This record gives sequence, C-alpha cells and structure tokens, in this order.
Amino acid sequence: MYEIAVIPGDGTGAEVVREGLKVLEAAADACGFDYQARTFDYGGDRWLATGVTLTPEDVEELKGFKAIYLGAIGHPDVKPGILEQGILLRLRFDLDQYVNLRPVKLYPGVDCPLKDKGPEDIDMVVVRENTEGLYVGSGGFTRKGTLQEVAVQESVNTRMGVERCVRYAFEACRKRDMERKVTLCGKTNVLTYAHDLWERTFNEVALEYPDITTDYAHVDATCMWMVKNPEWFDVIVTDNMFGDIITDLGAMIQGGMGIAAGGNINPEGTSMFEPIGGSAPKYTGKNVINPLAAIAAVQMMLDFLGENDAAARVEEAIVRALGSGRIKSLSAGKMGMGTDEVGDLIAGYVREGS
Ligand code: IPM
Ligand code: MN
Repeated sequence: MYEIAVIPGDGTGAEVVREGLKVLEAAADACGFDYQARTFDYGGDRWLATGVTLTPEDVEELKGFKAIYLGAIGHPDVKPGILEQGILLRLRFDLDQYVNLRPVKLYPGVDCPLKDKGPEDIDMVVVRENTEGLYVGSGGFTRKGTLQEVAVQESVNTRMGVERCVRYAFEACRKRDMERKVTLCGKTNVLTYAHDLWERTFNEVALEYPDITTDYAHVDATCMWMVKNPEWFDVIVTDNMFGDIITDLGAMIQGGMGIAAGGNINPEGTSMFEPIGGSAPKYTGKNVINPLAAIAAVQMMLDFLGENDAAARVEEAIVRALGSGRIKSLSAGKMGMGTDEVGDLIAGYVREGS
C-alpha cells in the first residue's frame, strides 16, 4: 500500500491533479497495486486565510508519505516568492529531495519548434541538483535602499551535495541504457570555485562508471546545443540554477509546458512529483488546461514507487493519445478537448493496455 500525499495547490493545479489521479486509479486497477491518497490544502488560498504556508508539523507529517503529488504553486493575490519559498522550495529542502529529475522527450505527433528535429533526436534527462547552489538563500543586503546598497547572493556547493547528485546521474544513465553518456553542464571558465568542485567531483565519480562516456558543456553552450543538436544529449547533470534554466528550454523543445513533468527525488525518503509549468491562474476552472504534464508526473511517481509496468502503461497511453490526433494542440485552450476528456482518454487507454 503506497501512501501518497496530494497537494493540488493553486490555480489550475486542482484540475490537472484530478486527471492525474484518474490515471493513477486506472493504473492501480490494471496492474493490481494499492495506494491511499490524502489531500492537503497547502497553497495560496490557505495562506491568504491563515498566513501560514507550511508549519514544521505539516512538513513532519508529509515525511510519513512515500510520495507527494503536487499540482501547482503560485497565486495571483500572493506576492511572488512567498509560496514558492514557503511551500515548493521548503519541501524540496526539508525533505532533502536532492535531485530534480526532468525528462525531455519529444513524443511522436507533438509539434516541435526545432526545424528538422524529431522524436529520435530529443530524448534526454536533466538531473538538476535541487538542494544547494543559489537556491539556499545565503547572502544578504547591506545599506539597503541607499545608493551604496550591496546585495550578495551566494551559491553554496558542498562536496557531499554535488557528489550524490552526480552519482544519481550516472546511475540514471545506466538505467536508461541508451547512449550511456553523461554531460556535465557548468561554467568552469567563470565559476572557478563552485564549478571546479563540480568538475573534479564529476571526473572522480566517472571513474566508477567505465561503461559511460562523459562530456562537458558550459551552460551557455548547452543552451545552444539543446536547440541545434539535441541528439547529442543523453543525461545532463547540472547545478540548481542552471538546471532551472535549461529545463524550461527543454520543456519547449519537447512540446511545451503542457507535457513537461518533473520529480523531486529523495531516493531514501519522500519524493515529490509535479508538472513543471505554473498554476496558470487565468485558465482556472475553465477545463482547458492540459493535464498531460500532470499525468506524466504520475508516470514518474509510479517509476519511483517501483511500479515500472504501470509507469510504462501510462507512458504508452500518453503516446497513443498523442498519436491519435485527437489532441489538437498541447497549449491550454487549444486542445480541442476538455481537461477532463484528455484525462478520460488516457485513463481509458491505461485500462485497455496497448
Ligand atoms: C521550477 C520553478 C521553481 C524553481 C520556482 C517556482 C521557485 O521555476 O520548479 O523550475 O525555480 O525551481
Ligand atoms: Mn523553473
């Protein structure tokens, strides 16, 4: 029995999570596993009503779950930063979800903005460090508000944090068993301390994986190659900030935020799965948002739980739905189907099997 915490969150989060749960139920029925989902109301509305994002007790309670299924965080009436830091980043840090795993895979039938690139060219996974770097909130102001103001924001990189992330990338590469290539994405020519640590750690860990080819690309060049030659990438490992940036680029080359999912992984603890797009408040309640990213997040959650057959079934259903031509576009409002109909279609395929 898997205990799953569900945080629909803000905006369209609830709508996409509903469809994801439909698919999860179909997968459980088809593959014969049990789970129990419990919903939590964390998000902007709760903050507006109570001034609380997450209490220490809330976090402790979530540690009792194997996985968290998150919709979206971000509310138009809440100042940017409060919910992101108070809920999303808080969970990533406090639950020590040290890898942000973001597959970038173009499925057949999906429009790709890159000329002459197809599904055979775009199939990579980004392993983004998720608990360190510029995201730790280290630094501060002096003389704030004056002409002499100084703002410092430090990137914190530890040997332990870098090493566990890099090792995860090599293991993930072996498991994928595709090109068997891991690319370190950094900026060693400028970040001569932090990325020196990354490079040395990467090279040392690589020695343990003689079956895997290694490569290095500066982050600016990575952006260039992801557009020009995405087929060069298999697994990319990178720090928190660079990972944030290149995975938005990755989402675009795989067809947009409507299909991009991610997992915040603590291999020994509670992991959290989410569509990586935002809460899209303007589409809330309209039944036009694309639930595919949230459904792909369920697929990732199933893989994490060890229900690999169920995960494969969900992916096959997504591929079949995309290939059916029934979903006109992956953009909100242009699908030619309702959010619920897309969920029904995929859940139906999951039940049928392919
Ligand atoms: C993401 C988001 C978050 C991040 C924001 C909302 C804090 O952009 O999940 O990529 O920067 O990690
Ligand atoms: Mn981001």
